[in-house]
Amino acid sequence: MEITVVGTGYVGLVTGVCFAEVGYNVTCFDIDVNKIGRLAEGRCPIYEPGLEEMLQKNLAEGRLHFTSDSKAVCSKSDYIFITVGTPENEDGSANLEYLEAAVADIGANLCKDAVIVIKSTVPVGTNERIYKMLQDIIHCDVQVKVISNPEFLREGSGIRDTFHADRIVIGADDYEAGRAVARLYEPFERPVVQTDIRSAELIKYASNAFLATKISFINEIANLCEHTGANIEDVAKGMGMDQRIGSQFLKAGIGYGGSCFPKDTKALEKMTEDYGYDFKILRSVIEVNSRQKQQLFYKAKEMLGSLRGKRVAVLGSAFKPHTDDIREAPSIELIAQLIEEQADISVYDPAATEKVEELFGSRLYYAETVDAAIKGADIVFIMTEWPEITQYDLARFRLFMREPVIFDGRNCYSLVEAESAGLTYVSVGRMSVNVNSYIDCLEL
Ligand SMILES: NC(=O)c1ccc[n+]([C@@H]2O[C@H](COP(=O)([O-])OP(=O)(O)OC[C@H]3O[C@@H](n4cnc5c(N)ncnc54)[C@H](O)[C@@H]3O)[C@@H](O)[C@H]2O)c1
Repeated sequence: MEITVVGTGYVGLVTGVCFAEVGYNVTCFDIDVNKIGRLAEGRCPIYEPGLEEMLQKNLAEGRLHFTSDSKAVCSKSDYIFITVGTPENEDGSANLEYLEAAVADIGANLCKDAVIVIKSTVPVGTNERIYKMLQDIIHCDVQVKVISNPEFLREGSGIRDTFHADRIVIGADDYEAGRAVARLYEPFERPVVQTDIRSAELIKYASNAFLATKISFINEIANLCEHTGANIEDVAKGMGMDQRIGSQFLKAGIGYGGSCFPKDTKALEKMTEDYGYDFKILRSVIEVNSRQKQQLFYKAKEMLGSLRGKRVAVLGSAFKPHTDDIREAPSIELIAQLIEEQADISVYDPAATEKVEELFGSRLYYAETVDAAIKGADIVFIMTEWPEITQYDLARFRLFMREPVIFDGRNCYSLVEAESAGLTYVSVGRMSVNVNSYIDCLEL
């Protein structure tokens, strides 16, 4: 059994390595020659806990291979999983150019029967279109099937999520071909939901949109807490203990980011528009999130006025902890606003610094520790709840900062802790700490 994975990003690499780990012979193919070179040497180009070790083990045991030669993989593969990116177009729709290029490449080189499995997140109807496209391109006498198998792993726990997936979704119009893909997953012993192709495509978007809705909903409740004097942590706890609601995705903060929720909600909105349907809730979810992402910056402006020349430390740039992914991260928007304000900015992130530096170059100071980032700072913004930040000794803010003012977008510290550490502390959906005394001092 030969498996090929096309695209070695967060999804493709984790998928390929995990399939090798359960005993399959896997070849990972990517057009990025440098990436393939690194991977073939056992070096992981992304930060994903446990991935590099598993990659090296399977390379050494001979089950995992890397190549940029599509002809070679197409001549031997039984199953070809496509996991290339489907980013956002300017109008919010899913950009399918990478997928179409990958399919064109496979179609041109395929010379044996194969099952093409689309793992990339794609709008309803795409798998059918890909099947037709392949029929037009393939010139040999070969049988090809197209199966939808959307992916649900989370960055930062990709391996765990692959081995413990809540469900494997398989969409197939040819039932037996779908069953064959389901059998590939048997070593993982996870429940399989087999549907028609269109339903499988929609399950992915509906799942992400629902989770995004939960986040925007709790952020709205947090904003209401700020108006009413309630405390969002208590409200979320009291809600989440109701099993019909559940406690996951009820953490208020500065909005969702990353490579999936923002683009998938927008692609779903565009798709519903194209079908002539008005998905009202989804539109609000997107709007609430884009407002929430700016909230901390405007709170700081309202409290402090101009930030020009202020020394500002941004703690955390990844869109969530345990990943180096900064796509659509709230921190990136904040940093751009701070640059516009002409603040003097330092940033700290345990994994994403290289990527932030690619974006902002010499306009920022890249600190290697929290201590170095906050030294001499006037203001701190907390953007990612890395353990290095949540477990930071609060007394050190007072030690290293001039007059510690913290805007915490992730509610990392308790109000009691912040108060007793003598911080001026503004978080999300909770009372602010020491703000009045700080403003009184400024006015003196
Ligand atoms: N990242 C996640 O957490 C996640 C989770 C679930 C689903 N998804 C979906 O999975 C898909 C992939 O996401 P990702 O984050 O892994 O993407 P990514 O951007 O990290 O990686 C995509 C990879 O595909 C390669 N590629 C592009 N064109 C190619 C081609 N023609 N042939 C071979 N390789 C090619 C790129 O070089 C890159 O290495 C997307 O549709 C995404 O929405 C992502």
